[in-house]
Amino acid sequence: MATIAFLLNGTPQRCDVSPDTSILTLLREHLAQTGTKEGCASGDCGACTVAIGESTTGTQRYTSANACITPAHQLQGRHLVTVEGLSEKGHLHPAQEAMIECHGSQCGFCTPGIVMSLFTLHSDLTQRPSPLTPERLEAALGGNLCRCTGYRPIRDAALSMNAIPYQRPQWFDATLPDSEIDTQPSDSSQTVAFFAQPASLAELAQLRQSSPQARLVAGGTDLWLESTQRLAPLDQLIDVSRVAELLTIEEAQLENQTGWWIGAGVTYTQLEPLFEAHFPAFAHLLHRLGSQQIRNRGTLGGNIANASPIGDTPPVLLALGAQVELASVTGKRRLALEDFFLDYKKTALAADEVISRIFIPQLVDSSQLRVWKLSKRREDDISALLGAFSYRVEQNVLRDVRIAFGGMAATPRRALAAEAALEGSAITREAFRAAQQALEDDFQPMSDVRGSQHYRQQAAQNLIERLYLSLSATDQEVMLHAYAH
Ligand SMILES: Cc1cc2nc3c(=O)[nH]c(=O)nc-3n(C[C@H](O)[C@H](O)[C@H](O)COP(=O)(O)OP(=O)(O)OC[C@H]3O[C@@H](n4cnc5c(N)ncnc54)[C@H](O)[C@@H]3O)c2cc1C
Ligand code: FES
Ligand code: FES
Repeated sequence: MATIAFLLNGTPQRCDVSPDTSILTLLREHLAQTGTKEGCASGDCGACTVAIGESTTGTQRYTSANACITPAHQLQGRHLVTVEGLSEKGHLHPAQEAMIECHGSQCGFCTPGIVMSLFTLHSDLTQRPSPLTPERLEAALGGNLCRCTGYRPIRDAALSMNAIPYQRPQWFDATLPDSEIDTQPSDSSQTVAFFAQPASLAELAQLRQSSPQARLVAGGTDLWLESTQRLAPLDQLIDVSRVAELLTIEEAQLENQTGWWIGAGVTYTQLEPLFEAHFPAFAHLLHRLGSQQIRNRGTLGGNIANASPIGDTPPVLLALGAQVELASVTGKRRLALEDFFLDYKKTALAADEVISRIFIPQLVDSSQLRVWKLSKRREDDISALLGAFSYRVEQNVLRDVRIAFGGMAATPRRALAAEAALEGSAITREAFRAAQQALEDDFQPMSDVRGSQHYRQQAAQNLIERLYLSLSATDQEVMLHAYAH
């Protein structure tokens, strides 16, 4: 058990929670706050959306999260805002009022989640005024499903809520509890439940060594599904989300390469500005990775450690030549990301190690990065296939070609034969045909619910075709806004 102190809609709370308690369970079963709904219990539908406030510069910033897969203990020192807290003295929040005005609700099951997503959008627009672009609106609502109203009235509500007068309630900037989480001392036995929230890498490494059987949790957006979908116990947890060294982004030199060390605990939302500035294609992929709720919590380190063959960032990182740093009590070691993935869900991470940082080299000498994700749905869907291509063109000849795919093998992997077919070749149909052919040597993909073996092989070849078309007719973009972007 751990005792956590946090604010719930402005009111201080102290609660005892077991390691595997989600925020949704805490709300509905411990605190009898049933406004937050459970739909899918897997982060997909958004019915359970809540806002979590964190203080950075004295003012709180609220981000949306799926309560069903967010560990309750991560509320320590934070402000949890739920649909019950939005109206004050009989005055509805503009998000609620606009939903009523625009007829944005029918059966109402999705409504609390949609209102909370609109609340975080509203507070973001108020704190950092900027135009509400269609992209921002889509991002804010992309993680909320509604099965009866339809989305037009909900969009109308989003577009009109900012015109409704609003006086921020007093709790909006309430002071957060700054006490440390109160946990029972960790126990290295295999049976006793425990939870730890280290603040430094040294502390984390110690815990990892003394309790190698405990699970690490960062955002929980992969790990928590083991509890909600497979009913696996998560009773020994080490939370890496407060480890200072894992939360930094630093520009650095490594082996004569300029680039960035990204802490394993950095979330997608925090990565976005860096990627927008230096890797626009990677930034674009982030818009297609999960939903806003997932991007607010999911981390780069979690995506790599999870080692899913269809994780979105590994193929891009492989194409960029990224390296991972692994840390333990005995020190740190560094390896190329391609040496980290050994087999299906098997990695080079030892039982006493954690991923501490990831190094992403800058694109140099006019190098280009292209990333194309194929999935059945545009918003909030896992890839069937993802292709990442980095290269530079020197007098119509391709150099430094690196191609990697997700969804084509048991691990995210480089397409070495296809790379060899293109390296040093002029941009000709023949060279790209050879690369398409070479893919058959690189991969024998499997069939599953997301795509048959034939589909995957054909789709990967089509992405090489797309690369050829976009390179051979540079004045026209190939299907820029298509579904499979
Ligand atoms: C609805 C939904 C949509 C999603 N959509 C996508 C998508 O489009 N693309 C995609 O790639 N993924 C997607 N995911 C998966 C998930 O969001 C990502 O893989 C995310 O990056 C995981 O990060 P996390 O911090 O939540 O990891 P966690 O769930 O906390 O951890 C994942 C694994 O990594 C381990 N781990 C975490 N941090 C470390 C560390 N520092 N060192 C060693 N091990 C560590 C954990 O022990 C666990 O085994 C989706 C998930 C959901 C629920
Ligand atoms: S209940 Fe569906 S996202 Fe949480
Ligand atoms: S109002 Fe019924 S699911 Fe959205």
